[in-house]
Amino acid sequence: MRHLMTPLDLSVEELEKLMDMAEKIKADPEKYSHVCDGKIIATLFYEPSTRTRLSFEAAMLHLGGKTMGFHSADSSSATKGESVADTIRIISCFADIAAMRHPKEGAPMVAAEHSTIPVINAGDGGHQHPTQTLTDMMTIRALKGHFNGMTIGLCGDLKFGRTVHSLIRALLRYDDVKFIMISPEELKIPDYIRDEIKKKGAEYKEITKLEDAMEKLDILYMTRVQKERFFNEEDYVRLKDYYILDMKKMELAKDDMIVLHPLPRVNEIAVEVDNDPRAKYFEQVQYGMYIRMALICMLLNIEIR
Ligand code: CP
Repeated sequence: MRHLMTPLDLSVEELEKLMDMAEKIKADPEKYSHVCDGKIIATLFYEPSTRTRLSFEAAMLHLGGKTMGFHSADSSSATKGESVADTIRIISCFADIAAMRHPKEGAPMVAAEHSTIPVINAGDGGHQHPTQTLTDMMTIRALKGHFNGMTIGLCGDLKFGRTVHSLIRALLRYDDVKFIMISPEELKIPDYIRDEIKKKGAEYKEITKLEDAMEKLDILYMTRVQKERFFNEEDYVRLKDYYILDMKKMELAKDDMIVLHPLPRVNEIAVEVDNDPRAKYFEQVQYGMYIRMALICMLLNIEIR
């Protein structure tokens, strides 16, 4: 039995195989619409979500399975003091696979240690969000064809933005990927991620002005400032609109640059950018469902031919 806690739990070969599976499902969803008949996914969300929870549920429903779960800690026995370890022991009696989001870093790992069913980390605090990374990787591969040699700009809240941490880790396994990290001083990438970049010998720069990076980028990965992780409102208010991608900035970019965002978007991408053909963040969400369908099948040992 396997779990997914970080993107590195999958080898590069397994990741490529998973994306191939997702492409097959995307090309002919009807063919796979009963492969999970009789299976149940439990979505255990101790933090709010729109995309991740619903795309896991949509993924299982499209595979013929069923869903159960809770969408907030308040609606679970966590409010009575039940531990994550005990909760997953209970859920293991009801479901075949679980996806867990939790505000505490490492909570899904604790669940995995006490589980008899596969557990997927659906986002743990400011740490990791591996299935968003699978979504991002599938989108990049589908739209750019490859990862090697790409220059990616990561912009916004690089301190708390767990999707950025997971994506860097995954991309570091490919050749000659260059990172331009664009953030205010207070929201720079955590040391442990910078150390991983240095250890791999990848080229990187840390800058504060988005305009200075635009013309060099193949991919621009925008992120929102993570309000829920700030200790005081004043800092959040000061930093929340630090970056706003608008058409004026888009004019500086290459014609084939793509703009990605894990969403939800707040103000960091002006609505006018949505109509630019390089804006791919809504398309990205679609890839998310197909890669989660493939992941569910992989963890349940269901073959996709
Ligand atoms: N991208 C993402 O994690 O979105 P949700 O918080 O809506 O799940």
